[in-house]
Amino acid sequence: MSEERPYVCGHTSRERERLDVQALIYADVTRRALVDGGVGPGMRVVDLGCGTGSVSLLAAELVGSTGSVTGIDRDPEALEAARSRARSLGVTNVAYVQADVAGITGPGSDRGASGAGTLPAGSFDALVGRFVLMHQRDPTAALAEAARLVRPGGSIVMVESVMAALLESRSSEPPCPLYDRVVRWTCAAVEAGGADLHAGLRLRATFAGAGLPSPVTRLEAPVEGGADSLLYRYCAESVRSMLPLAERLGVTGLTVAEVDTLENDLRTVAVAGGHTLVAWPVVAAWCRVEDPA
Ligand SMILES: C[S@@+](CC[C@H](N)C(=O)[O-])C[C@H]1O[C@@H](n2cnc3c(N)ncnc32)[C@H](O)[C@@H]1O
Repeated sequence: MSEERPYVCGHTSRERERLDVQALIYADVTRRALVDGGVGPGMRVVDLGCGTGSVSLLAAELVGSTGSVTGIDRDPEALEAARSRARSLGVTNVAYVQADVAGITGPGSDRGASGAGTLPAGSFDALVGRFVLMHQRDPTAALAEAARLVRPGGSIVMVESVMAALLESRSSEPPCPLYDRVVRWTCAAVEAGGADLHAGLRLRATFAGAGLPSPVTRLEAPVEGGADSLLYRYCAESVRSMLPLAERLGVTGLTVAEVDTLENDLRTVAVAGGHTLVAWPVVAAWCRVEDPA
């Protein structure tokens, strides 16, 4: 189950900023999923592939001062950014641990590529994660392994995108050719990098394959437009993060020269044309781990 493929967005400081913009766009969708999935006061929560810690912070707010959140990620720099963010916000109920999802519960599990930290099985009330299964070579094995962290009766809440949905239906109205080009390029880059454009729609199968109860599932998409939308910056920074790997993998259609003006170009075109743009749709899935008692 080890995850050796490079993360398609890379590990730069700009990528960490991109994650923060993405988090703002998907904050409401994610908060709703955590609440409906049962994350609440006093719980011990583990956030899988926490990146710069945005989901961890949402969970920290929900569990309150009597609960705690542990974010895990294999990227030490993302974890440092997450720690510094929590410090600057004065959030004291989150901790971040460097670990690979593979082998997260330690001996007896399939050790991950990094061989990094482990956490005790059954030591959490909830497992949460966003946009992380899509990057796993074997998401079912990854979820099964991570689910071992949750005590019987605990909750599992996963949020994953369905990027392919924007290839198959209208992504803007009236149609915006520049946004359409960015959508197509981004999907091509993500797919070439080995990530799954259908991860959200596969969640029911992923839960089933991991031996978990059938989850409740919901599809949502932020719908954006106007001068103040963060979507333009998110799109431009996503292209910037993916370009180095995408170019090596032969994905064409957008160039380095275009990236620096892409945010403004998208904003200008969208506002002038009165376009409404659909951001990546996501599926939230949640279930309660069966209690044998
Ligand atoms: C797209 S980012 C999402 C970050 C965060 N969940 C969010 O929504 O803001 C995916 C994160 O998962 C981490 N990641 C991917 N595969 C991993 C693995 N096998 N073990 C640990 N972390 C992993 C990456 O380092 C990256 O920080």
